[in-house]
Amino acid sequence: MPKLITTTASIARLWPRRFGTNRTIDGRDLRQRPNLNRDHRHPRLAESSAMTASDVPTRPAPVDMSRNPFLTGVFAPQRDEVDAVDLPVSGEIPADLRGSYLRNGPNMRFDPIGSYVYPIDGDAMVHRISLDGGRASYRNRFVRTPMVLTEEAAGHAIWSGITDGYTPSAAEVGDELAGTTRELPDINIVRHGGRLLAMAEADRPYQLAPEDLATLARTDCDGAMFVGSTAHPKIDPSTGEMVLFNYVLEAPYLTWAVVGPDGRAIRTPTPVDGVDAPIMIHDMALTSRYVVLFVCPLIFDIESVMSGGSLLSWQPRRGTRIALIPRDGTAVRWIDADPFWVWHFANAFDNPDGSVTVDYVEWTYPGGFSDQPTPAASSLTRAVIRPDAGITKTVLNSSEPDMEFPRIDDRMLTREHHRIASVAKGPRDSGDLDSLWFHDLAAGTETVWTPGAAIGEPIYIPGAERDYWGAIGTDPTDMTSHFYLLSADAPQDGPIATVDLPIRVPAGLHGAWLPDPS
Ligand SMILES: [Fe+2]
Repeated sequence: MPKLITTTASIARLWPRRFGTNRTIDGRDLRQRPNLNRDHRHPRLAESSAMTASDVPTRPAPVDMSRNPFLTGVFAPQRDEVDAVDLPVSGEIPADLRGSYLRNGPNMRFDPIGSYVYPIDGDAMVHRISLDGGRASYRNRFVRTPMVLTEEAAGHAIWSGITDGYTPSAAEVGDELAGTTRELPDINIVRHGGRLLAMAEADRPYQLAPEDLATLARTDCDGAMFVGSTAHPKIDPSTGEMVLFNYVLEAPYLTWAVVGPDGRAIRTPTPVDGVDAPIMIHDMALTSRYVVLFVCPLIFDIESVMSGGSLLSWQPRRGTRIALIPRDGTAVRWIDADPFWVWHFANAFDNPDGSVTVDYVEWTYPGGFSDQPTPAASSLTRAVIRPDAGITKTVLNSSEPDMEFPRIDDRMLTREHHRIASVAKGPRDSGDLDSLWFHDLAAGTETVWTPGAAIGEPIYIPGAERDYWGAIGTDPTDMTSHFYLLSADAPQDGPIATVDLPIRVPAGLHGAWLPDPS
């Protein structure tokens, strides 16, 4: 992955655009804060207030897609939007299984210009596989942001990637969109409080229509996300609350918030005390007592950016700091640890002795954001955090197969879970993430299923009598995509049903199982 060499315009994308409004965080008036997206535009744009057509900055050249592994092969963008019913099925879909498997991911609407950095750049496409009565159907749709709509009217890309700093002028896209960067609600999809949300990194999500995946509007979830949100909020099954955090580039740097089960904000963005630098945090964990944030030393380096350097700086001397944020709003507990990096958590739960158990994928450092002599390596890890005595860690996997995307039965979030499924490199080591690894922590077993396909994040699917795991994979030899349904009791035996999807589904990011509410 290339370094994130960027400019102020790219910072603007990561900046909470809601600063500059008359909203407040925890009583703090934010009106005086700069809105980089408007006030700190790229220098070329800043010169453009009296711009004529001949002065319009030159649009960047097309990206050579053939040279980018994340724009070719199983990652190549899919431009078709289709609806298909009665899909071919090998095996048998249980007749009582009703619901939809949804998955989001980067998928450029038009061939990119300027630059393209996976997984940060990209328009969003949501894929849905619906199961009902033993039959399967499929629908996919782009999330139609103003950028996608404007580019569709033009017939080509107008906004560039995050690393080259180009933003379109008013002459190209009108006053409202001039100086903006591409909105990227392409990371996750979450249903909560009556909303179906396409989630972005540190930004507001887009609300989709559940019946047809049409894009409705951007939302801040009743103000809980007005500064933005992680793409990985957590829903507490016992309370129905959705808890989230967000990072920003200026103090207070880090906030958390809560949305009630009715979709109304219970807690608006609240600063996390004790953060002294702009940090990147991708995911979070949640227990009944705590919001758990691992503050790893990946720092937004503004001085570096201003001199043409990298946006993100790995600073291991800072160590990793763990924040246990009481959900009752009392003081944050901080625990220091040696430096490591985390993209994704599986789950966390409280122990009777006051400690907190957290299962997650631990990386030695964030590959792509730091030059180190050895490749970044990951392990499925269990940490037990004692607020007064530090952290103890146990590696759960028996080898180091570059694990990622750990998931559990989401009904067990905040409580002790037994099953974790992850994506990893399999025994045949094709170079891709081509296997699903299953850990049963109660039984003490580790099993692997390697489908012969590039495989995506596994999602737990509760059934009426039995439970399942579901995942999408693409066979790199013929580029056909399939939805695999595996028994949660014996996933290593392979799918009980394989659904042939009507189009290739690009390798993507995160998804959810939505049981039919009826
Ligand atoms: Fe993620």
